[in-house]
Amino acid sequence: MNVRKKLVAGNWKMYKTSREAQMFAQELEGYKNTLGKPNVEALICTPFTALYGLHDRLAQVYVKLGAQTMHEEIQGAFTGEVSAAMLQDVGCDYVILGHSERRQYFAESDAAVAKKALVALAAGIVPIVCVGETLSEREAGETRAVVSRQVNAVLELLQTRASQSGLSEAELVVAYEPIWAIGTGKSSSTSDAQDVAAWIRSLVKTALGEQTAERVRVLYGGSVKPENIKLYVEQPDIDGALIGGASLQPASFVALVEQVSVLS
Ligand code: 13P
Repeated sequence: MNVRKKLVAGNWKMYKTSREAQMFAQELEGYKNTLGKPNVEALICTPFTALYGLHDRLAQVYVKLGAQTMHEEIQGAFTGEVSAAMLQDVGCDYVILGHSERRQYFAESDAAVAKKALVALAAGIVPIVCVGETLSEREAGETRAVVSRQVNAVLELLQTRASQSGLSEAELVVAYEPIWAIGTGKSSSTSDAQDVAAWIRSLVKTALGEQTAERVRVLYGGSVKPENIKLYVEQPDIDGALIGGASLQPASFVALVEQVSVLS
């Protein structure tokens, strides 16, 4: 039996001020019945400046709060960075880690992403670790190799330090986002996305055992919209979606959640 609760996660990237985020939450009040379904979790990951004061507001409309990155050290002289404890303090339930835009523009390494995931779990924040190949890697047949390298970096660190306090490693979420599908309107075929999601689950099984592999959630991301989300999330190994552009408008975000909530 599938014990994994579906997750519909919006990644706002560098869009919306704090005030705009509050207005978004206010607009969701009209959609409580759709958002409060027990079989799907809805999540919004906002810019840092919008996080404060948003958790309780979103909780009223059954939406969780997340950040889009964090630093891997506990504290220290890291100008401009934000720690796990700071995210916890403002009520973050989730944090996106290793998004391809972070890897590409901010040189985030596999090792740093792995450390961040461990630190987030210890702080009681669920990490959503993003992985995915570029178009040239896909064309060279390297998808599995790239995804394995990115996922295994995290799994190996979790394996060696599984007994940390905080959340268990089974809370981990992995988002498969092929880079060529992000913001391009060119989404992956559902069967390709399912293949990679199953591959990711097999990597979790090898590293952390079957029980954990059955609980870890794998998301698909890349040009997901209300019109296509169901086709992905009805795949056996895809437990939800990470959505950029289509999560920015309240009606579209609610439509994404609604589409998933009708799946069993
Ligand atoms: P789009 O949904 O805009 O393609 O973005 C995907 C993404 O990067 C989510 O993290």
